[in-house]
Amino acid sequence: MTRPLLLQIGEVTQRMTDRVAADFEIVKLFDQPDRAGFLAARGADFMAVLTDGHWGVPQDVADALVNLKVVSSYGVGYDAIDAPALAARGVLVGHTPNVLNDEVAVTAILLWFAVSRRLVSADAWARTGTWAEQGAFPLTRSVMGRKVGIVGLGRIGQTIAARAQAFGAEIFYHSRNPRDVPFTYMADLAALAGAVDVLIVITPGGPETRHLIDAGVMEALGPEGILVNVSRGSVVDESALVEALYTGKLGGAGLDVFEDEPNIPDALKAMQQVVLTPHVGSATVETRQAMGDLVCDNLAQFLQDGTLLTPVPECAGMA
Ligand code: NAP
Ligand code: 8YV
Repeated sequence: MTRPLLLQIGEVTQRMTDRVAADFEIVKLFDQPDRAGFLAARGADFMAVLTDGHWGVPQDVADALVNLKVVSSYGVGYDAIDAPALAARGVLVGHTPNVLNDEVAVTAILLWFAVSRRLVSADAWARTGTWAEQGAFPLTRSVMGRKVGIVGLGRIGQTIAARAQAFGAEIFYHSRNPRDVPFTYMADLAALAGAVDVLIVITPGGPETRHLIDAGVMEALGPEGILVNVSRGSVVDESALVEALYTGKLGGAGLDVFEDEPNIPDALKAMQQVVLTPHVGSATVETRQAMGDLVCDNLAQFLQDGTLLTPVPECAGMA
């Protein structure tokens, strides 16, 4: 029996490939030397796409796959996928919510702690012999009992709040709608930044949140304040961030995501008060396995009954 054709946009794990290959014939877009020619000649053959939060569904792929029925994405954020347009065509889009909440929350806390306790500089102090030459490392700031602001109190934001409370944090948050939670809601983002010691950003990306964290928010956070971004690079105005850190208007930053990944401004790389990670919020063996399994479960269920376990909200209720 012929298996339906699935277009794979980028690399995935062997475990995912093995599972998907049981149900679909996989064709890798990145193996095609003539992408435009390939899409023109074969685009209409594919009913499924396997992608992730970085690659999304590029416009040339969306246009060429006229018989597309389902997209399964390896990640919760889907700002690189035009979900409303695909939903309007009757294409179901699936993503991987919840299974990565703990891991991304840990990454956010890790970045906050690393900036506050100057972990990377302290490691260098120990490693390079500065300790022997110059003596004790300068005192850092405690993470205990801090005021923590969370921008985007969704699945991951609420997990960050729970973890931060274990360190005595008082939680404040901002989102478009207040929630029924025992934390302080602030409709004004700059006012929130002014009220807290640490601001952790975990909204979706995309046009609606572009540069939500601007120069004014960073200035309100202040010379002792720490900004942590684990959402999308687009949410923080990176030029304003460099300027705020350089002039001392903002105390420090922990960054997992950047405006032009994998490129990071040299100015950020040079700053001691900044800790950088290469978009590894969910990147552990355990969590990537859970995410990969959900991607495959979504595809398997689609073949069975035409639905997804975890459709994006734009596709909820579609069959
Ligand atoms: P979620 O449950 O949908 O939560 C998103 C939150 O953001 C909601 O509380 C929402 O509340 C708020 N929000 C949305 N638009 C906003 C706006 N314009 N202004 C202020 N708040 C806004 O999503 P999640 O599962 O927690 O994931 C959040 C995001 O984290 C993902 O979309 C992805 O971009 C990012 N992420 C990054 C990594 C990484 O590796 N660094 C890993 C996983 C996820 P309202 O609707 O009330 O505004
Ligand atoms: C992944 C992410 O890095 O889930 C998300 O939104 O940003 C990360 O978990 C990404 O989807 C690539 O796999």
